[in-house]
Amino acid sequence: MRPPTDESLSVPGPEAQAPAAPDGGIAAEMATLYDHYFASHDYRKRYPRPNRATLRFLLDRGAGNAGRVLDYGCGDGRYGLPLLQLGAAHLTGYDISHAAIAQFASFLKDTPQAARATLYCGESAILEGTGGYDMILLLFGVLSHVGDRDARIAALRQMRRLIRPGGQLILTVPSVFRRRPLELLRAQAARARGRATGTQKEPGNVFFTRTVAHAPHRFFYHLYSVASLHADLAEAGFVLREASPESILPEWVVTQSALLGQLDAALLPLLPAALGYGIRAVAQPA
Ligand SMILES: C[S@@+](CC[C@H](N)C(=O)[O-])C[C@H]1O[C@@H](n2cnc3c(N)ncnc32)[C@H](O)[C@@H]1O
Repeated sequence: MRPPTDESLSVPGPEAQAPAAPDGGIAAEMATLYDHYFASHDYRKRYPRPNRATLRFLLDRGAGNAGRVLDYGCGDGRYGLPLLQLGAAHLTGYDISHAAIAQFASFLKDTPQAARATLYCGESAILEGTGGYDMILLLFGVLSHVGDRDARIAALRQMRRLIRPGGQLILTVPSVFRRRPLELLRAQAARARGRATGTQKEPGNVFFTRTVAHAPHRFFYHLYSVASLHADLAEAGFVLREASPESILPEWVVTQSALLGQLDAALLPLLPAALGYGIRAVAQPA
């Protein structure tokens, strides 16, 4: 195994972090928010390990043997690190949050896996030219944080450019039937009264509040049905091959409790995709 090199952990500095804002500033807002979430260590406390059913799912679809994997929105390496440990030949991790990438780099430091990882943060254009990926992952709501439909389609089109012919795009997104009913109703009421502004004009878009480091913070999410995910993927040149539920219970429950995580994974095959806490999808280039 090659020793870690500086090159294998190419982490641009915080100055490279601020993205362009064709999306009304959502990307910049999410970057700042997730910097705080990761730097405060609240993210790792809330989601201390990968969802065992999702990790199993990735391995069953070849992530452990894949030559080149892109983990887009990799966070602190919650999935990227185990995938490297379980055999992925090379993993590129990208995230808009510098704090997330710095934490992933610190977990990799002085490990044998470091030589097989390249980490990037900053604008997603940094990934252009790195293509030919066998597998691209957008796990646990990454696509839903990207912004309104135009921004999400642009992100998916970039994935289309970066994936090799026949490669697999595996993503998990929050289900519109399970998540944030009050915020959805509020946005719907604003649209019905003609008072929706900005991203609120698009059905499925919500802002919700979560406590991070003892203070309330605003998160943007686009909530998906299987049909709307299918439509976004098709628009970007992907065919949806399969959809299944990501978990029955909330992600924080299944990742904090090993017992409930096991129980959830065992019962998951009984649930239709749309009723999962998240929807897991596999797509391929059309
Ligand atoms: C819920 S976390 C999931 C992180 C990781 N995939 C996991 O499963 O733990 C969402 C991640 O998406 C990243 N993110 C948000 N907006 C993004 C964007 N426009 N481009 C890339 N990453 C983004 C955040 O910084 C954060 O790391």
